[in-house]
Amino acid sequence: MNAPLYAIPGATKAVATSPAADAPPAAPPTGPAAAPAPACTVAEVLRDSQVEPVLAELDRELIGLAPVKQRIRDIAALLVIDKLRLNLGLQAQAPSLHMSFTGNPGTGKTTVALRMAEILQRLGYVRKGHLVAVTRDDLVGQYIGHTAPKTKEVLKKAMGGVLFIDEAYYLYRPENERDYGQEAIEILLQVMENQRDDLVVILAGYKDRMDTFFKSNPGLSSRIAHHLDFPDYAQGELMAIAQRMLAGMAYRFTPDARQAFDEYLVRRRAQPHFANARSVRNALDRARLRQASRLFADRERVLDEAALTTLDESDIRASRIFQG
Ligand SMILES: Nc1ncnc2c1ncn2[C@@H]1O[C@H](COP(=O)(O)OP(=O)(O)OP(=O)(O)O)[C@@H](O)[C@H]1O
Ligand SMILES: [Mg+2]
Repeated sequence: MNAPLYAIPGATKAVATSPAADAPPAAPPTGPAAAPAPACTVAEVLRDSQVEPVLAELDRELIGLAPVKQRIRDIAALLVIDKLRLNLGLQAQAPSLHMSFTGNPGTGKTTVALRMAEILQRLGYVRKGHLVAVTRDDLVGQYIGHTAPKTKEVLKKAMGGVLFIDEAYYLYRPENERDYGQEAIEILLQVMENQRDDLVVILAGYKDRMDTFFKSNPGLSSRIAHHLDFPDYAQGELMAIAQRMLAGMAYRFTPDARQAFDEYLVRRRAQPHFANARSVRNALDRARLRQASRLFADRERVLDEAALTTLDESDIRASRIFQG
């Protein structure tokens, strides 16, 4: 099983859709004599780094997650001040930026990690700002001698960006006497310490399992500077996420369909394996399938924009959840 390796599109450039990206560069260098003076106000760092559009986008595009957004703003503030201190020669060591993202499935961990990578890149804490997402299988080999090359290969890919290790606790299997996961952890520890000026590691997973994992691996735990906890979404937040996702795909609910989806979520949340925003996305995908079948059945009907974009009540209520 291979987790996807992916990069943020356009991470090394300004995001084209953000309004501030259109603003002219602050001080275009005209020659060697025109080297800009180092920033000495927060405003200057913000302007030079263009980090604010990313923070604004995070605020705008993600529903809820208030504590997570606040923590990210705090971290950004810390890094901006750190830059100003550096400019005055006040600090020699790169700050530790390794993080843990804990929360249930579908609470936005991967999405926020992508944004975090971009923020770190814009503020100059990593060169490239891409995100490499892996799980145990990408790091740990099956046979003796296979783990170190695998782990090092992944680290090489992630260098200059963020290494996101999903369900990180699977790296540690105390029940296996000589588990190769331990080897991967030891290599990670070294790199987290020695190359922290160009690689940020984010360990993600369920909160309780991560807590146990950290207790058994104090070396790792002590290298994590920021713990972010992602809460489950409330009913109203899930509805808002659904509306956001639908709008993004150019669909909409009829008022009855909206009501039905609200009821759907109440039932779905009470079932096992509910995965927050991920379950919302999956449910909407199935509703779109039903809408397509419904429209497909009538060969002669002229399908105008309203017909093609509207999910009606039947598209929702046909779900298994409402049966029986
Ligand atoms: N607060 C939110 N607002 C809008 N969309 C969201 C929000 N949180 C998550 N999503 C969407 O839900 C989906 C799942 O989110 P994401 O993959 O980031 O969650 P995750 O915590 O990494 O889940 P998993 O544990 O399953 O990997 C994505 O399509 C994402 O865009
Ligand atoms: Mg994820």
